[in-house]
Amino acid sequence: MNKILEGAEARGAETKLWNFSDVDIKPCNSCWGCKNGEHGCVIKDDMRKLYDALDKADALVLGTPVYMGQMSAQAKIFTDRLFASSQFSPRFSPYFKETNAARKKLIIVFTQGNPDAGKFQVYFDYTKDMFQFLNFDVKDIVVVAGMRNEAARERKDLDAAMKACGSSLVLG
Ligand SMILES: Cc1cc2nc3c(=O)[nH]c(=O)nc-3n(C[C@H](O)[C@H](O)[C@H](O)COP(=O)(O)O)c2cc1C
Repeated sequence: MNKILEGAEARGAETKLWNFSDVDIKPCNSCWGCKNGEHGCVIKDDMRKLYDALDKADALVLGTPVYMGQMSAQAKIFTDRLFASSQFSPRFSPYFKETNAARKKLIIVFTQGNPDAGKFQVYFDYTKDMFQFLNFDVKDIVVVAGMRNEAARERKDLDAAMKACGSSLVLG
């Protein structure tokens, strides 16, 4: 993630890194309070900071390990909570309004233990579709495979590709 942000910064972007381990984001409890008026999410937790940051951002890079063939629980909670934002209300929702729709660029980065980068392709394609329904302009799905022995930040072979990825987000 840091290298992707470095690549974007090198092209003049301002970036901010959020770690799911540093924020307290509770799961959506389907209260539908967000759809009752224009109040946004009724859960008052750190997701408020992320809604604010997303409001101002042109792009999002969402990084998650693959757990049980899917995004992590933390990433899924964040994704579910986007439902409360009128900008990301899904296109299939009766509450979707074209006038509210934001069009933010998105790159999703999956890391996985399995060395076969295509192993979870069906899920990655599905996830891409799902974020398109949330109005994101999905620029890329990056899969970093074979993470059994080394953390991504130790994998110097990834640096150039990740920087290029961040750079492309600004240029593309
Ligand atoms: C609970 C759990 C489930 C996992 N499930 C998968 C999986 O289904 N497929 C896979 O390739 N790797 C799986 N892994 C390995 C993680 O994807 C891998 O450890 C992670 O991408 C490493 O990134 P990190 O150093 O940022 O945690 C799993 C790991 C954990 C802890």
